[in-house]
Amino acid sequence: MNHQSFYSLTDKVAVVTGAATGIGAAIAERFLKAGAHVVFADIDAAGARARAGQLDGSGERSLVAPVDLTQAHEVAGLVERVLDRFGTVDILVNNAGIAGPTKPLVEVSEEEWDQVMAVNLKGVFLCCRAVLPTMLKNRSGRIVNVASIAGKEGNPNLAPYSTTKAGVICLTKALAKEICRQGVYVNCVTPAVIDTPILRQVGQETIDYMISKIPMGRVGNPEEVAALIHFLASDECSFTNGACVDISGARATY
Ligand SMILES: NC(=O)c1ccc[n+]([C@@H]2O[C@H](COP(=O)([O-])OP(=O)(O)OC[C@H]3O[C@@H](n4cnc5c(N)ncnc54)[C@H](O)[C@@H]3O)[C@@H](O)[C@H]2O)c1
Repeated sequence: MNHQSFYSLTDKVAVVTGAATGIGAAIAERFLKAGAHVVFADIDAAGARARAGQLDGSGERSLVAPVDLTQAHEVAGLVERVLDRFGTVDILVNNAGIAGPTKPLVEVSEEEWDQVMAVNLKGVFLCCRAVLPTMLKNRSGRIVNVASIAGKEGNPNLAPYSTTKAGVICLTKALAKEICRQGVYVNCVTPAVIDTPILRQVGQETIDYMISKIPMGRVGNPEEVAALIHFLASDECSFTNGACVDISGARATY
């Protein structure tokens, strides 16, 4: 291997959920630069189209796939489209997510709770389940889930969100142990505050609280998260499996 092929994703087919903006868009950009075919899977069809157009003007190496990840039939349809277009799927990044309500648990409605669970946790399950038959048949695959430091520590006024992210961490570990001898790797990352549009869903007080907990004293940027995920999605990630990899400016203590 020479230095030019480090972390190469040449001709890999990567599904990136939530690729219209924020961390997902940075992952999509990085994967395209590394040679992958990238599926922009997002409920925001216009945003996904715009971002894919910016990054891959010809459309030769990308597919825009509008999808609501909370709906099993839509997720199944997404994977069918990917297989029709590219013939396989090598990488899945479960990145899409919502912050949900930022308020005391006692004020959270049942509908708000269900919605965060549906997007952040059920969506990850549905996407894993939909790509696994192909990956297991190929005896090759990389799944990277975007959890959060909130899933390790729990953030006040973000109980539903924190709960989903703890679930994503455990889903990662359970699934990795289940299939780690079949060529498919499952890892997750736990970012602290990253400068993306999701922060608009969260009150300034909550953002200030989260930044105050970061010893490096700054927010992260989407490209920093994309760099870590790039490694976890590559063939060079060969003995890291079932891991929960921190990206939190020294906030994480375990
Ligand atoms: N930004 C942060 O501070 C931070 C920190 C830790 C973890 N994360 C996690 O990183 C991931 C990406 O976050 P971001 O900050 O880039 O968010 P973002 O709001 O900028 O982007 C999220 C994307 O997910 C898409 N999406 C939402 N619901 C969907 C659905 N039902 N079906 C399909 N797509 C849907 C949105 O349209 C959007 O494009 C999320 O899982 C988030 O929880 C973010």
